Amino acid sequence: MTIPSRVTLVEVGPRDGLQNEKQPVATEHKVALVQHLQDAGLREIEVTSFVSPKWVPQMADNTQVMAGIRRRTGVRYSVLTPNMKGLEAALPSKPDEIVVFGAATEAFSQRNINCSIAESIERFAPVVSAAREAGIKVRGAVSCALGCPYQGDVSADEVERVVKLLKDIGVQHVGIADTIGTGTPRKAQRALERALNHYPLHEVSGHFHDTYGQALANIYACMEIGVHTFDASVAGLGGCPYAKGATGNVATEDVVFMLDGLGIETGIELDALVDAGAFISEQLGRPPVSRVGRALLARRGKVFVT
Ligand code: HMG
Ligand code: MG
Repeated sequence: MTIPSRVTLVEVGPRDGLQNEKQPVATEHKVALVQHLQDAGLREIEVTSFVSPKWVPQMADNTQVMAGIRRRTGVRYSVLTPNMKGLEAALPSKPDEIVVFGAATEAFSQRNINCSIAESIERFAPVVSAAREAGIKVRGAVSCALGCPYQGDVSADEVERVVKLLKDIGVQHVGIADTIGTGTPRKAQRALERALNHYPLHEVSGHFHDTYGQALANIYACMEIGVHTFDASVAGLGGCPYAKGATGNVATEDVVFMLDGLGIETGIELDALVDAGAFISEQLGRPPVSRVGRALLARRGKVFVT
């Protein structure tokens, strides 16, 4: 199979990125970040999550962030909803898409959402049907698909089992997530191939944290099997609060630079994306993690005061 000529990037920085920040991030900065991202051409943006503020305090301003963004036609704004309480809180904000997030391992499911895999599916089922009835698209994430901080290695069978459970309750798109970034290209391909046993190509995506520097290679490997949707986080923001030591998702700037070099269309304008990364990094008081972001900012003579 030839690699895709067009790739869709789902920007998860405002959610997956910022959820892990210990310092408070002002609501207005979160809103401005979303604006920068849509200005750069991102058409799918994960904005926030409707989870317990005791578990993830940084996302407590979910409703205010959703109220603050200036929506652009053609952009899909998504939010995480782990249960009915989350969905009910999210509905007045009118998300275009919701995300239920399960895990390939029992240990991570317990640590992240405080229940077993089977219980999580039971909780998701009414969320999925209520969202679909309201005309909202439903995405599902399978965390720890390539490695788990508590269990260690994770098999493709374990991934496929959860993919199938999500499919059975009506989840329309599945994201295969390397939460701790230990996955390598062939392993990533094998996990996504299992998802493709149940979902069409355009409803499967890869979500690769870059902790071990494997994310770009994993994306390339998944493009080799035709996958053309990937999550990425501007400036390489973030990590998961329930996966110690996990760093951010692959930086959106790094992915766009690679795809531009390969002649693959994304609709994203790299310079404007670098501006978005510079903006949020400035607010956080540190340089972007993105290698491409840092390189291009250095060329512009930008110095970060930390
Ligand atoms: P729980 O404690 O088992 O929930 O948490 P509960 O139903 O027993 O309720 C306990 C309290 O939480 C109650 O309040 C509920 O009202 C409240 P109290 O009576 O004590 O005052 N509560 C809520 N509040 C707000 N929004 C809600 C909600 N639900 C209950 N939706 C729960 C279960 C799922 C809520 C909790 O474990 C949680 O919020 N977990 C979220 C963890 C999280 O956000 N992790 C990061 C996102 S996932 C991720 O990053 C991975 C991903 O990027 C892919 C990858 O990289 O792997 C997607
Ligand atoms: Mg993640």
